[in-house]
Amino acid sequence: MCGIVGFTGRREASPILFEGLRRLEYRGYDSAGLVTSTGNQLHARKKAGRLAELGKLLATQPAPGCHGISHTRWATHGGATDRNSHPHFDAKNEIALVHNGVIENFATLKQQLQADGVQFRSDTDTEVLAHLISRFYRDDLLTAVTAALGLVKGTYGLAVMCRHEPGVIVGARFGSPLVIGIGPDGHFLASDATALAGFAEKVVYLNDRQVCQIDETGYVIRNQDFDTVDVPVHDIAHFLGDGDTEKGDFPHHMLKEIYEQPETLANAMRGRLEADNATAHFGGLNLGAQQLRQIDRVVMTACGTSYHAALVGEYLFEELARVPVEVEYASELRYRNPPMDRNTVVLALTQSGETADTLAALRESKRMGHTTLAICNAVGSSIAREADGGVYLHAGPEIGVASTKAFTSQVAVLAMLALYLGRTRHLSSTQGQRIIAELQALPDVIRKTLECHDQVKLVAQKYAGAKNVLYLGRQYLYPVALEGALKLKEISYIHAEGYPAAEMKHGPIALVDENTPSVFLVPRGNVFDKVMSNMQEIKARGGPVIAIASAGDHEVSAVADDVIEIPDVPEYLQPIVTAIPLQLLAYEIALLCGCDVDKPRNLAKSVTVE
Ligand code: F6R
Repeated sequence: MCGIVGFTGRREASPILFEGLRRLEYRGYDSAGLVTSTGNQLHARKKAGRLAELGKLLATQPAPGCHGISHTRWATHGGATDRNSHPHFDAKNEIALVHNGVIENFATLKQQLQADGVQFRSDTDTEVLAHLISRFYRDDLLTAVTAALGLVKGTYGLAVMCRHEPGVIVGARFGSPLVIGIGPDGHFLASDATALAGFAEKVVYLNDRQVCQIDETGYVIRNQDFDTVDVPVHDIAHFLGDGDTEKGDFPHHMLKEIYEQPETLANAMRGRLEADNATAHFGGLNLGAQQLRQIDRVVMTACGTSYHAALVGEYLFEELARVPVEVEYASELRYRNPPMDRNTVVLALTQSGETADTLAALRESKRMGHTTLAICNAVGSSIAREADGGVYLHAGPEIGVASTKAFTSQVAVLAMLALYLGRTRHLSSTQGQRIIAELQALPDVIRKTLECHDQVKLVAQKYAGAKNVLYLGRQYLYPVALEGALKLKEISYIHAEGYPAAEMKHGPIALVDENTPSVFLVPRGNVFDKVMSNMQEIKARGGPVIAIASAGDHEVSAVADDVIEIPDVPEYLQPIVTAIPLQLLAYEIALLCGCDVDKPRNLAKSVTVE
């Protein structure tokens, strides 16, 4: 959510900043802007709308100089307008800054500044920072930024320049990620290392409450007390993941990511399944055998799609490992005070590793003394670094705002974790061997599942005009119904609801009419007959039914209006297989509705504000 890129060195800054923003644009695309400097002159260019708008502006009004900071915005305070775009300036246009996060006490600070005669030029919370820093500025930007931040409540990833200190960029982090890049041509700041691929060779991740200063020749990091601190330097390659960030031959990142799933699932499992011992193993869990056996409850916490994966995890852990699980939205858990004993492990699930609520829930759990684990995709992200242990998805960068491959990899990792825990308890080696064989077959099964794409296109054409869509499933497939509905609403803006199929009778069935299609998840399994009855209830009320069903299931095709066929797998793997047609369905309907699939309105990848 919002992206920052800064550069100071021996090359023109604006092409580097623009390319960095292009890679981060999926984090926010309400507006974009940059400021560069030559001598003690600042050159600002900013524009509401997509990054391309800033590109057009730069083509006619280039921003010269080898030092600069830039920003792509997801609006929190103030509309998506030119004047609210970053960078923001102090009244004398001497201090320029870009900011990710939210200044919670900005209204109070703004009132105080206004009482002192400061005129504001935007509706943002960020602008107060520029005026505050200016207040404290004597001749040292780093000191002024540190002093100003002392008055601020909220979260920030920050990059600041001052007209009087050419070539110097100051950064600060609290709750919003910031990384220093070290390259042959100079130094960088970015909210995500992917912005620096090909420019920087090494990266240094700032921790909360650290401030830093970079210039052409070096960098320094200080803590709150202004002491210099040493922070580990890493090769950037380690953090760039296994995949690339380009679309290749696909028209959209989302479609590319859907089609990557046979490989991303194979990557999630690579080296983790141990046929000899009929179990799974994980290098980074940091849990001893004794500790593992003592776990008597797992609290899973996450947001959005990751939350839906956690709901699948509840079924997996309870069935395969017989470990009680509670799943809680991170935004709720962070303010709750649930009784948890020492043997409760808190497991955070997150693609980005930066979601503010998930990070806060993890920190709160740590503070209470619980062991915390994370299932995370982004290597080196805040949650990956702060959890006591964890498992990486190795799904490669997920750029499409709607999460797809991360979901299926999360479920695969949860299944492996359930196997691992189960094998320390009641699961026999024969059961373990069977699960391993089923998991290993999964990439090929998903390749086969993707063949449903043509059927999905036909269904999409028939129903793209719907105003409401219901998604219904039971047991393992209830969370997938929630996920299918989320995919559709976020990229096509069609209202959709996911429900446990049998819950319909308790209210939502009132929505059913001939214009409200229901997507039923009804592959063969224990509750097949029950779901079929629920399907009949919808049909009896004239509702069109789209069924996601086992290939060749005549019972389903006799009732449903449309059928999308998927291969048969054991029930605990059905969430992964049934997610594929739902991702494709959302994608195809969104295309037919003329929506920007990779950058849906109002959204951004990686929600780093509360
Ligand atoms: C939906 C989607 C979001 C994210 C949510 C959590 O397609 O992408 O709902 O799943 O913002 O993000 P992470 O997993 O990065 O914590």
